[in-house]
Amino acid sequence: MPLSERHGGNLAANAARLGCRPSQLLDASASLVPFGPPWVVRGPLLWAALGAGYGESLRAYPDRHYAGLRAGLGRLHGLEPDSLLPGNGAAELFTWAARDATATGLSVLPVPGFADYPRALACWDGAWRTQALPLQAGSVAQLFPSPPAGEVLWITNPHNPTGALWSRASLEPLLQRFALVIADEAFLPLVPGGEVQSLIPLVQAHPNLVVIRSLTKLYGIAGLRLGYALGHPERLARWAAWRDPWPVNGLAAAVGERLLHDPVAYRRWCSRAQRWTAREGAWLQSQLAQLPGITPLPSAANFLLIRAEHSLVPLRQALEQRHHILLRDCRSFEGLGENWLRIGYQSHRNNCRILRALRQELGRFSSDSGLAEIRPGCSEPNTRSDVPG
Ligand SMILES: Cc1ncc(COP(=O)(O)O)c(C=O)c1O
Repeated sequence: MPLSERHGGNLAANAARLGCRPSQLLDASASLVPFGPPWVVRGPLLWAALGAGYGESLRAYPDRHYAGLRAGLGRLHGLEPDSLLPGNGAAELFTWAARDATATGLSVLPVPGFADYPRALACWDGAWRTQALPLQAGSVAQLFPSPPAGEVLWITNPHNPTGALWSRASLEPLLQRFALVIADEAFLPLVPGGEVQSLIPLVQAHPNLVVIRSLTKLYGIAGLRLGYALGHPERLARWAAWRDPWPVNGLAAAVGERLLHDPVAYRRWCSRAQRWTAREGAWLQSQLAQLPGITPLPSAANFLLIRAEHSLVPLRQALEQRHHILLRDCRSFEGLGENWLRIGYQSHRNNCRILRALRQELGRFSSDSGLAEIRPGCSEPNTRSDVPG
């Protein structure tokens, strides 16, 4: 499968398949804030970067050390700049985490889970085993009472695709049990009350811990690509030496610096995102629970899973074809399958649109003829190894 088709939010390919423009699609298969980024970035900064005779961020090579960006991140998290490494999205940093993981030992990947970790491990012929996770939050430490020496744990908090939030107290003992813990906190800043569960305060005391964060979901800048790792300076220096000289382009670095230079503004933005997650999450849960034939799972994150007693593939296809709405197919998540879909929260208006479409299609699907109507038109590939996001 081509690389371009291996991620959620694949607007161009879906638009081509559905015969419409990307802008006509409502993409709830990816989970980004529906607003943003702040005006100061969208307007003046990008204009200045692109403007004739100005545009340093475009014309000059980016600072190879990303000193400004690292300083901003350091202020935000109370760490020295050399404990932080910006990346071309969190995804780029998984690749280097996987190189360390491969050199350390067998990786343990909780499932269902984010498929970019095996992608990254496969780059280095890294070995992994999977571990089934409960679909609801609980004590993750109980799942790993005494792993064999030298194993590497990849943990996602909140978990993707379930939205389960693990407490720091339940994760902390794992730092003694695993040789290396890679904690993906891509969605944590969007979770109401989530920051208190972050492992970032443990980074300095635990050289075997790396936390990876993404700014693409929080600021709605998935196209720009920006993430960062927090870890031991020696580890991050090693990663920096391995990779391309300028993995974060000048525009992304300039935007990142602007977004992160003021910790108060950053926290204000996170509060806004968290209020949206809380409000739309509670509302969607209650509305979805009233629809026939599907059950929403509780989630702490800005997305949730729905499940049914039968395949939801025809429903997803109907939403795409009749309503131009994309939901996340869950066939690529080990342990889920075709009876599951994931919905990324949208603006309230667009959440209403999703609900209206679901109500209409579930009504139609209660008769067999509804299913028959969709199935013959299905021309998409089976997405078992598709769409990690
Ligand atoms: C759990 C998780 N981590 C990381 C990423 C990738 O983040 P980025 O866009 O910063 O590469 C995703 C993308 O879907 C994700 O679901």
